[in-house]
Amino acid sequence: MGFNFKELQEVDPAIYEVLKNELNRQRNVIELIASENIVSPAVLQAMGSWLTNKYSEGYPNKRYYGGNEHVDVSEQLAIDRAKQLFNAEHANVQAHAGSQANLAAYMSVMKPGDTILGMSLPHGGHLTHGHPVNFSGRLFNFVHYGVDKENEVIDIEEVRKLALEHKPKVILAGASAYPRKIDFEAFRQIADEVNAYLMVDMAHIAGLIAAKLHPDPTPVSDVITTTTHKTLRGPRGALILSKQEDRFDKDGKKNLAQKVDFNVFPGMQGGPLEHVIAAKAVAFKEAMQPEFVKYQEQVIKNAKVLCDSLKDYGFRIISGGTDNHLILIDITSKGLTGKDAETALDNAMICTNKNMIPFDQRSPFNPSGIRLGTPAVTSRGMKESEMKQIAEWINKIIADVKNTELQQKIKQEVEELCKGFPVYKGVELE
Ligand SMILES: Cc1ncc(COP(=O)(O)O)c(C=O)c1O
Repeated sequence: MGFNFKELQEVDPAIYEVLKNELNRQRNVIELIASENIVSPAVLQAMGSWLTNKYSEGYPNKRYYGGNEHVDVSEQLAIDRAKQLFNAEHANVQAHAGSQANLAAYMSVMKPGDTILGMSLPHGGHLTHGHPVNFSGRLFNFVHYGVDKENEVIDIEEVRKLALEHKPKVILAGASAYPRKIDFEAFRQIADEVNAYLMVDMAHIAGLIAAKLHPDPTPVSDVITTTTHKTLRGPRGALILSKQEDRFDKDGKKNLAQKVDFNVFPGMQGGPLEHVIAAKAVAFKEAMQPEFVKYQEQVIKNAKVLCDSLKDYGFRIISGGTDNHLILIDITSKGLTGKDAETALDNAMICTNKNMIPFDQRSPFNPSGIRLGTPAVTSRGMKESEMKQIAEWINKIIADVKNTELQQKIKQEVEELCKGFPVYKGVELE
């Protein structure tokens, strides 16, 4: 892989040291954070390029500054590929991150103060789905649905009931910590019953959707947001897809696609990150290849094996299993809290995150669960047998959580396993 960091080493040894240490960490860790992944060298090269120098306020062929003839090509490629990949009518590739994409999408279908029905945070939703500290909860009137207490699957009847009661302008489907398939058609039906827009935030599952391994939100939703850096395995950033037409404003000055563009720029951002947009274009191209489908199939297989193995060790799995890339565990079933479990696993270089579980009685700072995901380990080439090994390590650590000697021993075993699955082979920082 062609990366040379000599200049960085000379100019800024402190930052060079961070890059070196972080590369070593990524090489030696079992990365189970469900929202992380490992981008390809091609994505890294586009992102780490001189395209960062260009100011490109506006859109391809409609820019405020000159000299955009080349980044117009990369941004148009990103737009066209995103539309092709998800079969969408319109794509905006400029949002800097998932949170900005959500703000721009909200502003395209609502005014501040309007009501929106989204998934509750402890039940799997995201900070930008109406948390009181976030812009979403401060600008809009969020009403929340959750999962059923018994089966821990989205309670679609509750969604209908709340929709009929609150008459939201928008219904939002999508989550950060939900291990099951989402039935977007059922959400569409409810949106139709109450004359609401349907917005989908597919940040976590975009890669699975691109590979056609999860129900497709595109035919039924008005606007879709996603990060590009999770299962989709692109650079840190976001994407908004939409229909051309605004179903409730057919004769308006702007159609829905134009509203989305307007709400990204000039509505929310100035200059786009053209180096990141070029990297998004590369990632979308990679996502159209047959190997990407195989990769996503393996992500799901790995999640299932990891989940089943943990179940066999007596862990309580939220909703009893997984259909996607992530697993949510009620760690109180082992007499621990999420924070205890996260710290103990971290000591052995198994990286997870503490997470709220549905109907959690504990605080978000020390919740009852941990969340595990398989996108990053699968990108390294790990398969079912490695998942069984990882489950065995997790079980041993959790069963004897204060045993730091055991954690150190497993850390060495983790390092050995990781050697067989190199990250950015050929990049050597001394
Ligand atoms: C469902 C969902 N939406 C939005 C976001 C926000 O993305 P970002 O962190 O890029 O702002 C996330 C990130 O975790 C997410 O899971």
